[in-house]
Amino acid sequence: MTDLTTYPWPADFIWGSATAAAQVEGAAHLDGREDSIWDHFAQQQGAITGGDTPEVAVDHYHRMPADVQLMKQLGLGSYRFSTSWARVKPGDRAVNPRGVDFYSRLVDELLGAGILPWLTLYHWDLPQALEEKGGWANRDTALRFVDYAEVVYDALGDRVDHWTTFNEPLCSALIGYTSGEHAPGRLDPRAGLAATHHQHLAHGLAVSRLRQLGAAKVRAGAQPDRIGITLNLTTAIPNDPADPVDVEAARRIDALWNRMYLDPLLRGAYPVDLLQHVREYGLEDHIQPGDLAAIAAPIDFLGVNHYHDDNVSGHPETVDVVTSVAPTAREKRSPFVGSEYVTFPSRQLPRTAMDWEVHPDGLRRLLVRLGGEYSNLPPLYVTENGAAYDDVVAPDGGVHDAERTAYVLAHIDAVGQAIAEGADVRGYFVWSLLDNFEWAWGYDKRFGIVRVDYQTQKRTVKDSGLAYAALIERVRANI
Ligand code: NOJ
Repeated sequence: MTDLTTYPWPADFIWGSATAAAQVEGAAHLDGREDSIWDHFAQQQGAITGGDTPEVAVDHYHRMPADVQLMKQLGLGSYRFSTSWARVKPGDRAVNPRGVDFYSRLVDELLGAGILPWLTLYHWDLPQALEEKGGWANRDTALRFVDYAEVVYDALGDRVDHWTTFNEPLCSALIGYTSGEHAPGRLDPRAGLAATHHQHLAHGLAVSRLRQLGAAKVRAGAQPDRIGITLNLTTAIPNDPADPVDVEAARRIDALWNRMYLDPLLRGAYPVDLLQHVREYGLEDHIQPGDLAAIAAPIDFLGVNHYHDDNVSGHPETVDVVTSVAPTAREKRSPFVGSEYVTFPSRQLPRTAMDWEVHPDGLRRLLVRLGGEYSNLPPLYVTENGAAYDDVVAPDGGVHDAERTAYVLAHIDAVGQAIAEGADVRGYFVWSLLDNFEWAWGYDKRFGIVRVDYQTQKRTVKDSGLAYAALIERVRANI
């Protein structure tokens, strides 16, 4: 592999790490916090592996100052975290001052440690009280989101200047409302598309509101806020590029997983092929006059989360004989790809514990492609990338996670290549700082560069964390 320090990293490139409120905080019912959809979902039999819940998670709520010191020790330039709506302003209830205070203290700790706070307003944890009013399928939730954004801005806008509205709306809308594997566990394609549109709308309205609120700060001489969104984007590669059936299947995946998000945000319109494809599920029924202009409010950055690319086929029979008995021969059907099959044939690549193929070049291709396709693309930040592996604690007490270390370095290499090819990438955040609550997988999948012993909550920096810290130091020394 190339010496990673030799890539043309911008001088202010951000090296960070990320978490999300519901995955790390715990204290789910303390200090005025109320249920989010994940607390509620976790109570349903079979919803989460092992019956795990986010009730305690990694107790970051209580251990936050020490966790920030750990970030400092690793040399992180930024910490990407989310605020919990259910902690700050549950449902239509009044603002919860104790909830707000937690984030205020977190921001102060970060700034005191010289770490840039990178705040996400929505990382999948809708207050359950709002789900009971229809959740994201209800247009009103978009307006409630803007109120919540305003509360957080009022409390933290004097110290936070990087704002992300949504994390991976694809997952919280479609996996939550259509395929039911995530909270709130609904199985309704129409609700999934309503949720998608309402999250877009909530994003656009919140961007405009945050800009208005930030105007006073700018008048007083501060730099304008940087406001954006984080999408999980993929590179959909036709299994056989010469086969029109595979090319068509890859196009459908690209429409549903990439362009359904990118196009409204950056072009103010849903892709025509997507609209045709999902017509029977009523996406267009939710679009009111003015929505698309609101959604396309200019953003200052695009966050890209990337874990794997997708090798796509349109042939139901494209199942690799060698792997057909193994779970790797996954075949997925989505109501949004039509009645035809879309399959993801194995490329015989190594896989992570999530069963995701490791193929870092997909990230390079994605980052380069975006600049080529969207003329108004804002600067990019890789806001999540990382891997779950079944770690073991060695007799020496360390976690020698060679596979995760290789994964992270290979993906940073792909980012470096993309920059060398002209992509405007300004930062990289490894997912995740800590092992944590991996949604429907509970505590079964470990993504941390720091191990958490779930019995004692002890933190141990893994070899991947040490390697990441060493790389950050070397790159900085080189600039
Ligand atoms: C993306 C999500 O934003 C994050 O919450 C999750 O843990 C990782 N993917 C890994 O699955």
